Amino acid sequence: MSALPGSAEGTAVTGLDSSPVEPAPLDLPPLTEQARLEARQIIARYPKARSALLPMLHLVQSYQGYVSPEGVALCAEELGLTKAEVGAVATFYTMYKRRPTGRHLVSVCTNTLCSVLGGQRIMDALSADLGVHHDETAADGSITLEHAECLAACDYAPVVTVDYEFYDQQDVDSARELVAALRRGEKPPPTRGAPLTDFKGISRQLAGFSQHGDAAAAQAAIDAPGALGPTLVGLRLAEERGESAPEMPSSRSTAASSSPDPAAEAAGVESAQRGAPEPSGRSLADQNDGTETPAGTEPGTTGQGPGKA
Ligand code: FES
Repeated sequence: MSALPGSAEGTAVTGLDSSPVEPAPLDLPPLTEQARLEARQIIARYPKARSALLPMLHLVQSYQGYVSPEGVALCAEELGLTKAEVGAVATFYTMYKRRPTGRHLVSVCTNTLCSVLGGQRIMDALSADLGVHHDETAADGSITLEHAECLAACDYAPVVTVDYEFYDQQDVDSARELVAALRRGEKPPPTRGAPLTDFKGISRQLAGFSQHGDAAAAQAAIDAPGALGPTLVGLRLAEERGESAPEMPSSRSTAASSSPDPAAEAAGVESAQRGAPEPSGRSLADQNDGTETPAGTEPGTTGQGPGKA
């Protein structure tokens, strides 16, 4: 069973865990007419209105710092959904917050690779410094701390993100310095990518609006430097050693042998594979469009979200 964020139940059990959900704080600014107009702009981007729900929830967070009861109601009204339907989505994904966040969201990867390289020690140190545990906000409102599953940056482990911007190859000392700087109101530049703003700013970006004040700032964020060093180590070593991957079978001949409509299938495969050879040992016949549940897999046993009741 899912409960609405901020619902009257207070300690209702949500779809993901049994953490309490909180009502809106008294000083929460109400959603403005501008927010409603922007919600309608988001809806206009999609052929089906309800497809707009995910960015609309980010929009709500950009105004109020979490998915408030008022935000749930706005989404439901504009999309013709029930509040229960909106709440079910909002409580499924961990990027939608059920209680007000701090100015910054600090996420520490404690998944396997980061953890063995110190991620859990970082989490423990920040937790002690801030006086909070997972998904709690420091008393001064500066930081919400959370542990995160793999942040898809294992080659830079252990990683910390602030408002989803990467701070790579952290250790306890560097992470503590980072958080101390954030609490002083500073915005240390991320290791790579766009400059740091804050949780409401990045939420606005995730809703599909620019969080930057002018076009030049927006372009500067796009043009911000990357950092591919650790990602390319394997490639560099292979080049130094004269190693290369085994030849791949021709996509056209593989497709022809596995498709009842060779011409159409080959055209699609060629398009999908351009510049991205499939790993050896996996045949094209193994692929699906990403929406099918593999045979023998129980729903709800992998990935995010509630498992079986
Ligand atoms: S395990 Fe931390 S980014 Fe993958």
